[in-house]
Amino acid sequence: MTDLTVRRLLIDLERPVARHWCGGDAFLTAWFNALSMSFPVGEQFFIDSVRDGAKALPEAERAAWEAEVKGFVGQEATHRRIHALFNAQIEKHGLVNAWAPRAEARMKVLAGADPRHALGITAANEHFTALFAEWLLGHPEVLANSEPRLQALWLWHSAEEAEHKSTAFDLYRALGGNHAWRVKWMRRITVFFLVDALRQTVNNLRRDGTLWRWSTWRSAARHLLGRQGLLRETFAPWRAYFRPDFHPEHQHSERSATWLRENSALFVAVGR
Ligand SMILES: [Fe+2]
Ligand SMILES: [Fe+2]
Repeated sequence: MTDLTVRRLLIDLERPVARHWCGGDAFLTAWFNALSMSFPVGEQFFIDSVRDGAKALPEAERAAWEAEVKGFVGQEATHRRIHALFNAQIEKHGLVNAWAPRAEARMKVLAGADPRHALGITAANEHFTALFAEWLLGHPEVLANSEPRLQALWLWHSAEEAEHKSTAFDLYRALGGNHAWRVKWMRRITVFFLVDALRQTVNNLRRDGTLWRWSTWRSAARHLLGRQGLLRETFAPWRAYFRPDFHPEHQHSERSATWLRENSALFVAVGR
């Protein structure tokens, strides 16, 4: 069981956010904005899947899960609330969230299905989130020229994602979820996630008028495919998910603990 603290981040998101808030880089801004657009809907899905999964546990096992489920739900609920505030700011730049309605429509297919399917989907998404989080925490230069409150937003979220990366996975297994379906969902989620994230990024860049700038594509190539790029650095740990003996805890996330320790002035703990 993981001991999860819910933290309220002490930042003001009522103040406007600059158009190219990520260090003036149009691509990085559009990419982070795209991810943020998926969070309110996506994280509600993760919350529901973990809650429903916990309810499906045998009565005798439920008490042991209570604290971790509460911590997971509290962390994700805080993330989605704060990203909704952030999204309201970036939508003032003329951006339109096409990802969320598409994801919502897709989720309807799961109504009435075995709760292990939703948990398998959540576990796959949480692996992606944890990989992205670890990459971001390991590359402070990506956010170095952004406002401190926005650095805090993304790094706090990343740190908590690394912290609760095992919850959905462990619950899936506790409910008897098997390897075959776990990797089947990972294959599908990989396609959905990459296509959705790239589509929304392109959508954001088009509305921003920066899609066809050379600097946009140079940044995309560098940050996604470059030597220390996201896709290149996360490929091996992504592939590890397909091993039968995989567990999220096998992948290191000490950067998360370090960040939380060194930045405790940025948040208050609201529950355990
Ligand atoms: Fe989250
Ligand atoms: Fe999460």
